[in-house]
Amino acid sequence: MTRTFAPEPVTEWDDIQALAASGLGALAASAFLLLDVTDVAAARAWLAATRPTSVADINAARADGRIVSTALQLALSAPGLAALGLAPAVIDQFGPEFRQGLASDDSRSRRLGDIGTNDPANWDWGCGADVPHLLVMLYATPDALDAHVDKVLATLSPGFILRKREACAVQNGHEPFGFLDGISQPVVDWAGVREPGHDALYTHLLAAGEVLLGYPNEYRCLTDRPLLDPVQAPQLPRALDDASRADLGRNGSYLVYRRLAQDVPLFWQTLSARAGGMTAAIELAEAMVGRGIDGQPIPALGTRAIPGAEPYDLNSFSFTGDMGGNICPVGAHIRRANPRNADLPSVPDGLLDKLLVTLGLTGNARDDAISSTRFHRILRRGRRFGDMLSPVEAARPGAADPQAGLHFIALQASISRQFEFIQGAWVASAKFAGLSGESDPLLGNRCPFPGTMPTDGFTRPGPDGSIEKHALPQFVTVTAGGYFFLPGLRALAFIAALPAGGS
Ligand code: HEM
Repeated sequence: MTRTFAPEPVTEWDDIQALAASGLGALAASAFLLLDVTDVAAARAWLAATRPTSVADINAARADGRIVSTALQLALSAPGLAALGLAPAVIDQFGPEFRQGLASDDSRSRRLGDIGTNDPANWDWGCGADVPHLLVMLYATPDALDAHVDKVLATLSPGFILRKREACAVQNGHEPFGFLDGISQPVVDWAGVREPGHDALYTHLLAAGEVLLGYPNEYRCLTDRPLLDPVQAPQLPRALDDASRADLGRNGSYLVYRRLAQDVPLFWQTLSARAGGMTAAIELAEAMVGRGIDGQPIPALGTRAIPGAEPYDLNSFSFTGDMGGNICPVGAHIRRANPRNADLPSVPDGLLDKLLVTLGLTGNARDDAISSTRFHRILRRGRRFGDMLSPVEAARPGAADPQAGLHFIALQASISRQFEFIQGAWVASAKFAGLSGESDPLLGNRCPFPGTMPTDGFTRPGPDGSIEKHALPQFVTVTAGGYFFLPGLRALAFIAALPAGGS
């Protein structure tokens, strides 16, 4: 029988990279460096000398009334861990999908929608084993970014070669189609006060173990991670579930990176032609996203008290009163990416109802999908790239492509249960919550699924009971990506100090 654990407060802030607790929004400029190890000893020396910004650093600055003006975050791929000399037996204890990689096999690519023009064979980097060893994320205030990047670049040789520098736009809160972004995030229960599984209603609160390894997750269990002999790793904390082992995963998180190119002119030209004008085009786009372009929830959904959301903020709504999707289409992006609603299907009132639902003796397939949302949450930490075009500019015939998109970045404790489930079962699947023949209206690749069923539909029910059906072209293309591990600072120091022959 699997051991379960009570929630555990997170206190080791000086061991946790800042991104786990913050999108670093005050540092609006950023650049991502993708590196390969060329000289192991020099690479380890660089790692030993490079300290990623921790949550404690950000908190200390905040307490002093300052903001840090630069930050560095560092993540490693499985080939990167191997290149740095971590023993295969240790790497084997990381999650299988991390070890295999984002674009390691056709089956994973099919499930994630990485077929057609999204096929990894077309990617700039990340296809098969072609994953960079290190992802270094540099953040700064706009005036300080260039100097910050130059300073880091000057230190890389001879340990690393720079494979790619990914540029980010200075963030303005909006993604390239024009929508306010980064609004709905799980609220991590850092204090360890919530008992997972006892929520009668949808909650934004999430166990810390869904983001960080080494803490109890929504099942009240500890996600598998590498546990070592403490004699070989004295600097690592002991594992919560086995005090005789040192925990290499604790305070670390898996980082999914996907570079998503957005065809902004195609998006707005298609919608304005379909809808017959910009006002109606924006309304159609808002139905596809499931929110107003300014981030407002659809008013008719109403507001309700949701743990983790401030009353009446942009996130205090659920779909309880709109199970049929007459207000917010069932296939809208935010509804596919997080169906919200009840933690228990149908929000039963009585004890008997609750018991029947818990035992799986009532409810239906759609309820089941909805009830599982707490196991499929991610922390989004993406950054926009390219120029911004307003919807009106983009809708003009012949508008120049601003070459814009999203460096999609998600943190989680289990790539398969969190990002891969959301992307595969909800976003890319042509069958979702009673819909078929459609996939995510923003992200779908529009390829037939699984070879025959169309996926380009979008159903938008009108308030009068009418139903609009749209056939959509592909607006977003995956152009690079990889799975990385964002380690705790002590785990990074352990890797940097590996003996010459490996661990
Ligand atoms: C170019 C690609 C994408 C665009 C333009 C986009 C845009 C948006 C927008 C405008 C929102 C609503 C604002 C907010 O709550 O932050 C949103 C929410 C969200 N998106 Fe995306 N997104 C993209 C890719 C993805 C991907 C690949 C995933 C995951 C597989 C994802 C998962 C989510 C989630 C979980 C939410 C919050 C849903 C909620 O809790 O209400 N998005 N996105």
